Amino acid sequence: MTFRAKHLLGIEHLHPTEITTLLDLADSYAEHNRKGIAHRDVLAGLTQINMFFENSTRTQSSFELAGKRLGADVMNMGMQASSIKKGETLIDTALTLNAMRPDLLVVRHPHSGAVDLLAQKVNCAVLNAGDGKHEHPTQALLDALTIRRAKGRLHRLSIAICGDISHSRVARSNIMLLGKMENRIRLIAPPTLMPSGMADFGCEVFENMEEGLKDVDVVMMLRLQKERMDGGFIPSEREYFHRYGLDAEKLAHAKSDAIVMHPGPMNRGVEIDGTIADDINRSVIQEQVEMGVAVRMAAMDLLAQNLRASRSAQTQMV
Ligand code: NCD
Repeated sequence: MTFRAKHLLGIEHLHPTEITTLLDLADSYAEHNRKGIAHRDVLAGLTQINMFFENSTRTQSSFELAGKRLGADVMNMGMQASSIKKGETLIDTALTLNAMRPDLLVVRHPHSGAVDLLAQKVNCAVLNAGDGKHEHPTQALLDALTIRRAKGRLHRLSIAICGDISHSRVARSNIMLLGKMENRIRLIAPPTLMPSGMADFGCEVFENMEEGLKDVDVVMMLRLQKERMDGGFIPSEREYFHRYGLDAEKLAHAKSDAIVMHPGPMNRGVEIDGTIADDINRSVIQEQVEMGVAVRMAAMDLLAQNLRASRSAQTQMV
């Protein structure tokens, strides 16, 4: 089975075999990155534009690095400084960019669904780098690759996702991906940060960390997304850390070889204790960053192959 998608807008429409194809390729890129083997021919002659309408450190820099490692011409649009500030609509900005004939467009936007909308207006492959509370597919894929490398498999694992589930596109994409690969997902959050109906997605829901973490293989922590909160969702950060912050005592309820993950940026002392985050025997947070580059290389490689194939089919038709 190959990878058929034209865009990477979310996990929702990916088939499990497409996920495996992408992870296999990413795994080989990860090994080559470690050995310093270059692949500058893969995206040679293609133009990649990164449009980030929201702040980003890891995601933007790893998309940039991934494109450069594969030989693309990479341009970062400073969206803070763009015409959006002068009142231009998203669609007009997209059409302007489209006229510059990019091949790969990487977009992060604060509104759920904005990246899908944009993909309908342009003639290139679009990669969603996070849209509102909706999806963050490359984050879920890099998390999956990190888990697969640490645990030797990506099925039948017990995985806890903890914290601000309500506001998190990372949680949403991960729930879909890990569910498709047949894992047991446990969601742990205070009732104010847990969306309703999660049991319908096949997830087990917990309010208490000690119960939820019992015997899990993977502990995935989430940042409190304060920028998406418009009221008092938690009594105080101190109280939140006491009840939901991951520390050695709570982690002791997970399996003794359970790994600890966090997508970053991390708030030490709010959702995670600094010593756990830095514990190289448990935390795979740095590995997640490393896998981010490999996964983005694989995603752009596969989309570029599909783009080239559809363009050459179109040329043959005329
Ligand atoms: C996440 C995001 O932006 O959705 N970060 C990331 O991409 N590494 C999670 C977050 O901001 O908490």
